[in-house]
This record gives sequence, C-alpha cells and structure tokens, in this order.
Amino acid sequence: MKKKCILIINRNKKIYVNTKNCISLLSILLLNQINIDYQCKKGYCGTCKVVLIKGKILYQSFSPLAFLKPGEILSCCCIVEHNIEIKI
Ligand code: FES
Repeated sequence: MKKKCILIINRNKKIYVNTKNCISLLSILLLNQINIDYQCKKGYCGTCKVVLIKGKILYQSFSPLAFLKPGEILSCCCIVEHNIEIKI
C-alpha cells in the first residue's frame, strides 16, 4: 500500500501514513508522539499552526479562520494530500 511521508525538518523525524488515511495532520502528529500545542481543533485559535515547507494539504469541510502568515497552515483542520515537509 502506498504511503504519504510527513517530514518534520526541525525535529529530524519522518512519519509514514496510509494514503487512505483522512485524519487531520494534528491527529497524525499526536498519534506519533509529536508534541504540538493545540486548543480548539476547529480552525479558530491558531495554536496548532505549522509551517508548510513543501507539499500539499487540503482543508477539510471548513476553511480556517485564524490569522496565518504566508506558508503557515492549521494542522487541526487539514489533511495531508501528498508528501509534505513541515516545521513545527
Ligand atoms: S487548535 Fe485551534 S486552530 Fe487548530
């Protein structure tokens, strides 16, 4: 089965997930014991933001409302579409 790779460049860590896995990036990080702050899990607070260095994500059923700088994404409400590189 094909897998997507999440490379966390500032922690020198790679996570592989099944291509059919549609849980949020935040859930994947937490399931893999990656410490990341979060609060609302609904796209409001911005606490869960990470920097997307490379690759593609998709936002789930709603668009994030928190303020984001260019390159930042909200891990609580996006899914990984292809291999990505992020910085936490
Ligand atoms: S946890 Fe609040 S925006 Fe992601």
